[in-house]
Amino acid sequence: MATQQTFSIIKPDATRRNLTGAVNQKFEENGLRIVAQKRIQMTREQAEGFYAVHKERPFFGELVDFMISEPVVVQVLEGENAVLKNREIMGATNPEEADAGTIRKEFALSIGENSVHGSDSEENAAIEIAYFFNKDELVG
Ligand code: CMP
Repeated sequence: MATQQTFSIIKPDATRRNLTGAVNQKFEENGLRIVAQKRIQMTREQAEGFYAVHKERPFFGELVDFMISEPVVVQVLEGENAVLKNREIMGATNPEEADAGTIRKEFALSIGENSVHGSDSEENAAIEIAYFFNKDELVG
């Protein structure tokens, strides 16, 4: 498997609790390199567009309200098999189902306030990276 890039968000529940560094340590100690990163306040339009695939879900409104409630850190992570590796590092969406040592097991508060987002495929990673980053912000 070649080097891949994946898209990551450190969500408001984690930035609020000053866990940006602790989350980044998980990525780095597991072999992912943070090749781009910025702290932003997402607009409602940005959040609705980013999560458009979930717009018919009952939790969509709650999800968007949460994602714009405080700043987030958007990131590009790079490494061998990065999409799958990041999903392993994050753990299951529901922290109650996440394995020991994962970000969500250690830090997440609930299925909604689950500390991180990570792309679910290489194809979606490319779309999500382009949603938040210009090419000249990816410096390797
Ligand atoms: P994420 O990887 O960011 O993608 C969609 C998000 O929807 C997911 O993480 C969860 O935080 C959120 N989500 C999924 N299921 C629920 C739920 N039942 N209630 C609230 N939020 C949810």
